[in-house]
Order: sequence, then structure tokens, then C-alpha cells
Amino acid sequence: MRKPLVAGNWKMNGSRESAQALVAGIKEGVGSGATADVVICPPFVYLSEVKSLLSGSEIALGAQNVSHRGNGAYTGEISTSMLLDVGCEYVILGHSERRALYGEDDALVAEKVIALNAAGLKPILCVGELLGERESGKTEAVVARQLDVLLNSVEGLAALQNTVIAYEPVWAIGTGMTATPEQAQDVHAFIRQRIASKDAALAEKIRILYGGSVKGSNAVELFAKQDIDGGLIGGASLQIDDFLAICHAAK
Ligand code: 13P
Repeated sequence: MRKPLVAGNWKMNGSRESAQALVAGIKEGVGSGATADVVICPPFVYLSEVKSLLSGSEIALGAQNVSHRGNGAYTGEISTSMLLDVGCEYVILGHSERRALYGEDDALVAEKVIALNAAGLKPILCVGELLGERESGKTEAVVARQLDVLLNSVEGLAALQNTVIAYEPVWAIGTGMTATPEQAQDVHAFIRQRIASKDAALAEKIRILYGGSVKGSNAVELFAKQDIDGGLIGGASLQIDDFLAICHAAK
């Protein structure tokens, strides 16, 4: 049995004040004995503060990006050792916003996954197709390309042992246009098969999250699908009630 995971990606939103209120509400609502692992991924500058606010709860801390390089002369970057230092356990990598707006390609994302794993952090690796790619029947080819860069190398395959995959169709992110549970399940099953072709045991245990306009109102039917092991949540992770409803939907 794969334990479900729900991760909240705050993206570039919030303030110290809103972070405090949000964490307090989520901490109280998740309580003890939650059925899913819950992870909160605030912007870098709030990581330390959110970590202290989370003390006494089982909610884990995640970052939204990391450098693939070790500490040194890389102005503006954040290293894996810094993220460990402030108490991070997970890091979102290869988000479509990083790929589209900051030029991160498959090779760089793979380097980051490998660096993160070597540092003892857990990658949440995002994959997913653009609307045009879906409409031209390329969804599987795109997702395969994004995965194969890791599946086809020894280091990459080793790093996937500690990775969570997030299937986020780009057309569903922040649009309110959620993939249907069937559309999502089809791609999740494809991802699992692709991994199984290299490592059957890994395919069985790896958690594959769905992301893209997940809300309290659609989480139950999405998470009911066999290969959907939870969600990566954007907008709804900034709303206490909505995020809690999603956390409780993951069983
Ligand atoms: P939304 O839930 O706002 O669609 O964002 C999804 C996402 O990009 C999470 O990483």
C-alpha cells in the first residue's frame, strides 16, 4: 500500500502574517493520525519560520526549487545543504513554471533530482504536457521524455527510489480546468508502466501525485483512482478549509 501524500505549493504568494495564519489553521485541522503525509512548500524566505510553526506536528516542510550545485559563488541560488539546514524534507523540481519561465530543461531537472537525492532530500518531480501537446496526441511522448532522462541512467534510476512524481498537465494548472479522473488515471498508469519497464518494485512503491486545479470538491474522485496517490496543490493550498478537505480526501 502506498501512503498518500498531499503537498501544498504556495508558489510566490503570501507574507509572514499570512503564512502564520495558514500554518496554524492547517496544523490544527490536520491533527494527529492523518491518513496522508502532508507537506507544505512555502517560498524560501519563509521556510525557517514555517518550520518552527510546524513543530509538534507531523507536517513536513518542502521547498519549491534548489540549485544543482554545491555551496559557492552562485549569487541568488539556494543549495541542498541550506534546505537541509532549515529542516526541509522535500523539494519540488521541474515544475512547469520553472520549465516554461526559467528555462529549466529535462537535463537540468534530472541533475537537480540526482543532487537532491545525494543530499538526502526527497524530490517531488513534476511532469506534464502542454494543451497543444495533449491535443496533438503527444501526452505520453512528452511524459516519457521527461521521465526517461532519469530512467535511462544508473544515477537517475537510483534517485527515483526516493522521488515522488507529480503529474501536472500544464493546461490544468491554475485554470480551473481539472483533468478528469479518467484522464489523470490514464497518464498515471502510463507513468507507472514506464517505471516498471526498468524497475518493477520501484513502480509499485513510487507515489504519483496529480496536480492541476485540485479542490476540496474534486479531490475525492481523483484520489479514488488506483494510480493517483495524492495531490500537488497550488491555489487551494492557500485556503485553509479547501486544503484540509483535500488532505482528508487522501486515504
Ligand atoms: P493549481 O492547484 O493552482 O492549479 O496549481 C497546481 C500546481 O501547479 C501545483 O504545483
